[in-house]
Amino acid sequence: MRVVFLGAPGVGKGTQADRIAAQFKVLKISTGDLLREAVRNQTKLGLEAKGYMDQGKLVPDSVVIGLVRDKLADPSCSKGFVLDGFPRTVPQAESLGQVLATARTPLHRVVNFQVPRMDVVRRLSGRRSCPKCQATFHVDFAPSKKGDACDRCGERLVQRSDDKPEAIETRLKVYEEQTAPLIRHYQQQRLLSDLDASGPVESVFEALFGVLAPYHAV
Ligand code: AP5
Repeated sequence: MRVVFLGAPGVGKGTQADRIAAQFKVLKISTGDLLREAVRNQTKLGLEAKGYMDQGKLVPDSVVIGLVRDKLADPSCSKGFVLDGFPRTVPQAESLGQVLATARTPLHRVVNFQVPRMDVVRRLSGRRSCPKCQATFHVDFAPSKKGDACDRCGERLVQRSDDKPEAIETRLKVYEEQTAPLIRHYQQQRLLSDLDASGPVESVFEALFGVLAPYHAV
C-alpha cells in the first residue's frame, strides 16, 4: 500500500499515520519527524532547516525531496509506505510522481484530512511531545497518564516551538498558499479521497481504515 496523507497542520495526519503503519505493516515516512531528528542531531541539514521550521515556513524543496528520495530507495519501503507531510508543494508532488513512476510503484491513494480551522488551532496549541521517544499527546484530547511526563518513557513533555500562536498562523497560511493546490493536483489524477477528520481519534481511524482497506497487501 502506497499512500499520501494530505491536510493542514494539526488535522491528525501523524496520529493516524502511526496507527495505519502499524495496522497495515508499512513504513511511516514523516518529513516533519525526519527534519526534527536532523535538528536534534545538529546535522548540516538540521541546522539549515531549523530556522524555517521555528517560523512555520516550509523547508526548501531541494532539501526535503532529497530526504524522501533516500527513504523511498530503502528496502524497508518495499511493503509500502504512508507519506505524512510530503508532498507539500507542487514541485514536491511532481518529483514524487517521477520517482514512483521510474520505480513502477505508483501511489494507490491520497487522503485529504478535513478539520475546521478552529479545531485545528485547538489541537495544535494543546499538543505536547516527548523529546526522547517522540510520542505525541494533547492536554485535553489525549493527555499523558503521568501529567507533564511521557507515558512511555517518563521524559518531561514539551511544546513544539512551531506550536506557538504566531507560528501556527504562519503554518496555516503557508498551507493555504502552497499545499492546498495539491488537492486539485491529485483530484485530476483521480487519487484523492476526502476524509472528515473532525471526530475522535478512534472514529477517524475507522473511517480511514475503510478508505484504505482495498489497498491492503497491494
Ligand atoms: P510537520 O511535522 O509535518 O507538521 P504539520 O504538517 O504542520 O503537521 P503536524 O505534525 O503539526 O500535525 P498532524 O496533522 O500530524 O497532527 P497530529 O497527529 O500531530 O512539519 C513541521 C515543519 O517541518 C513544517 O512546518 C516545515 O517547516 C517542515 N516540513 C515538514 N515537511 C515538509 C515538506 N514536505 N516540505 C517543506 N517543509 C516541510 O495531531 C495534532 C494534535 O492533535 C496532537 O496533540 C494530537 O494528539 C491531537 N489529535 C490528533 N487527532 C485528533 C482527533 N481526532 N481529535 C482530537 N485531537 C486529535
